[in-house]
Amino acid sequence: MTTLRLPAVLALTLALAACSGGGDAVSEEHAGPERAGPTESSAGLPKGTVADGEKVATTPGSGGQSCADCHGKDGSTPLDPSYPFLGGQYADYIEHALVAYRDGQREHALMGPQAKDLTDKQIADVASYFASQPTKLTDLSHL
Ligand code: HEC
Repeated sequence: MTTLRLPAVLALTLALAACSGGGDAVSEEHAGPERAGPTESSAGLPKGTVADGEKVATTPGSGGQSCADCHGKDGSTPLDPSYPFLGGQYADYIEHALVAYRDGQREHALMGPQAKDLTDKQIADVASYFASQPTKLTDLSHL
């Protein structure tokens, strides 16, 4: 029974795939929308580098403090336990958060001013850096 049905299912699958418009439709889907420049991020920022990001993370900003001063050099040893862990966080997540602080969509008295003067490249760099660090973050996949 099984040996007879399997080819039938395969034939049906292939027939449906052929109806959906063929290979071109699939590759267009994976190519994604047109973007202004080279990017690897859903936030639409240029590609960041870990080495440049380490400099951003450790250089004091206009407020006199660096990211590392508050979040820890590894992003996971914060000055205050209420400050979020950044080490090993998804780079995309960090980028979206920083863009939102910079553009005023996310407001916080301490964090907002830190992002105010960051360029797109600095955001991408510092996101790459903290994403590359070991993490203390967990999700629910272990449950
Ligand atoms: C004066 C202390 C301080 C400094 C300096 C600072 N942060 Fe923050 N950061 C915070 C606090 C507090 C929060 C939590 C704010 C909130 O609840 O929205 C935060 C939140 C964040 C978040 C959001 C995290 C999340 O899980 O949503 C990111 C990303 C971040 N900071 C990155 C940075 C980067 C990059 C720098 C350096 C350019 C920096 N921070 C400098 C205190 C600081």
